[in-house]
Amino acid sequence: MAARAAIILAAGQGTRMKSALPKVLHSVGGRPMVDWSVDLARRVGCERIIVVCSPAGIAVQDHVRSVLGEDAIAIQDPPQGTGHAVGCAKEALGPFQGDIVVLYGDTPLIPAVAVEALFDELANGASVGVLGFDAAEPGSYGRLITNHAGDLEAIVEAKEASEEQLAVTFCNSGVMAARAENLFSLLSKVTNDNAKGEYYLTDIVGLAREDGGLCRAVHCSETDVLGVNSRVELAQAETAFQTRRREELLIEGVTMTNPETVFFSYDTMIENDVIIEPNVVFGPGVYVRSGARIRAFSHLEGAQISNGCEIGPYARLRPGAVLEEGAKIGNFVEVKKTRIGKGAKANHLAYLGDGDVGAGANIGAGTIFCNYDGFLKYQTRVGKNAFVGSNSSLVAPVSIGDGAIIGSGSVITKDVEPDALSVARGRQMQKSGWATSFRDKMAEIKAAKKKG
Ligand code: UD1
Ligand code: MG
Repeated sequence: MAARAAIILAAGQGTRMKSALPKVLHSVGGRPMVDWSVDLARRVGCERIIVVCSPAGIAVQDHVRSVLGEDAIAIQDPPQGTGHAVGCAKEALGPFQGDIVVLYGDTPLIPAVAVEALFDELANGASVGVLGFDAAEPGSYGRLITNHAGDLEAIVEAKEASEEQLAVTFCNSGVMAARAENLFSLLSKVTNDNAKGEYYLTDIVGLAREDGGLCRAVHCSETDVLGVNSRVELAQAETAFQTRRREELLIEGVTMTNPETVFFSYDTMIENDVIIEPNVVFGPGVYVRSGARIRAFSHLEGAQISNGCEIGPYARLRPGAVLEEGAKIGNFVEVKKTRIGKGAKANHLAYLGDGDVGAGANIGAGTIFCNYDGFLKYQTRVGKNAFVGSNSSLVAPVSIGDGAIIGSGSVITKDVEPDALSVARGRQMQKSGWATSFRDKMAEIKAAKKKG
C-alpha cells in the first residue's frame, strides 16, 4: 500500500456561524469538527496530516498544535481558493511521496470507507479520485461531469456552468485524492481565470484529463458529506450523527425504548444488552458494559459502568465515576472521581465526590462527601459493607472502616474504625408533658393580650 497523507482545509472564515469561536472548533457529537477530519485521516492510515489555517485563525492553529504538533500547521495567506489552499500544504508535507486525500475542517461525517474507495481508485490507476453525491438541491455545488463510461471528465463550478451542466445533480463533495507528485504538478497549472478569481482545486480534474489521465468519482450519500457553514447546518450535522449512532447501537444489541431522545458523544461505547430508557445524555468518555440499565433522565460523562449496574432515573455521573459490577446509583445522586465497589448502592439524593466506596456498602439518602474546603479537594473512603445512615456528612479527608455503621444525620470528621458504630449529632432528650404545659401557658398569654 502506498504511503498516505491528508490535507485538511480549514482556512475559511466561517462568518455565517456568527461566533467568536472559529467554525471548525464547533463540536458535533462532543468533538470539534476539525478533529473528526483528523480522526478520519488517522483511521485510513495517513502518516502525515496537514491542516491549512488562516493567519488570523490563532485558536485553530493552537488547537492543531495541541492535537498534531507544530509541523502539521500550514498557513494560507491570503486565501485564494481551494486549489491555492492545498498548494499551501506542499512545504509542510516536505518530501512526502504517496497518496494524498484532501479533507475539510467543516465536514465531519465522512465515513472511512468512502475515503478508502478513493485510494482504491488511485491504486487502480486513476490520477484523481473525487467523492461525489446526488444533491437534493445542487445549488452552488460544483457539478461532476461524467462520460458514458462513468469516468469523470471535469468538475464545473456552478458559477461557470452552462444550463445543461447546471441540470446535473451529481455534485462535488470537495473531497478528493491524488498521488502527491500528480497533485502538485496539476495544481501548478491551475489559474485563477474564472468567475471568482480563485484557484479552484476542482480544475485538476480537467487538467488531468488533458494529460490523458483517468479520473474517477466515488458515490456517497449527501448526509455523509454534509458541510457546516451555519448553526442550522451544525444542528443538522449533530442530528445526522445522533441518528447514525443510535442506529449502529440498536443493531449492535442495545435496547432503547425511545432512541430519538438519547444523545451520544463521538466516543460513547455501549455493549450489547444494555437498556437505555428515554432522555439520557452521554457526554464524552463513557463506557457501559453489558447488562447495565440506564434509567430515564440521566446524564453521564467520563464514566465507566460495569455489568449489571443500574443508573438513575435522574442520576448524574461525572468524569472519574467508576461503577463496578452491579452497583446502583439512584435518583438525584451525583458521582465524581469516585469508585463505587461491586454491589454498592447510593439510591437517593447524594453527592459522592473524590471518594472510594467499597463493595457492598450502602450510602443512605442525602449523604454528602464534603470534599472541598474552598481551596483543595480531599478524599473520602467508605469501607466494604459499611452502612452510612441517611443525611450524613462525611468531611474529607476521612475514612470509614469496613463494616462500620454511621448513625443517620452524623457529621463525621474523624476516621471510623472497622465494624464500629459512629454517631456524631446532638443527643435526643425528652421532657414528658412539656408540650401540653407549653400550649396552655401560651394560650393564656395570647388571651390576656387580646383583652388588654
Ligand atoms: C467547493 C468546491 C465545490 C464543491 C463544494 C462542496 C472548489 C473550487 N469548489 O466550493 O466544487 O461542490 O466545495 O462544499 O473547490 N478554503 C480554504 N482556503 C480557501 C478557500 C476555501 O481553506 O482559499 C476551505 C474553506 O474553509 C472550506 C473549503 O475550503 O472549508 C471549501 O471552500 P468554499 O469556499 O466553501 O468552496 P465552495 O465554493 O463551497
Ligand atoms: Mg462551501
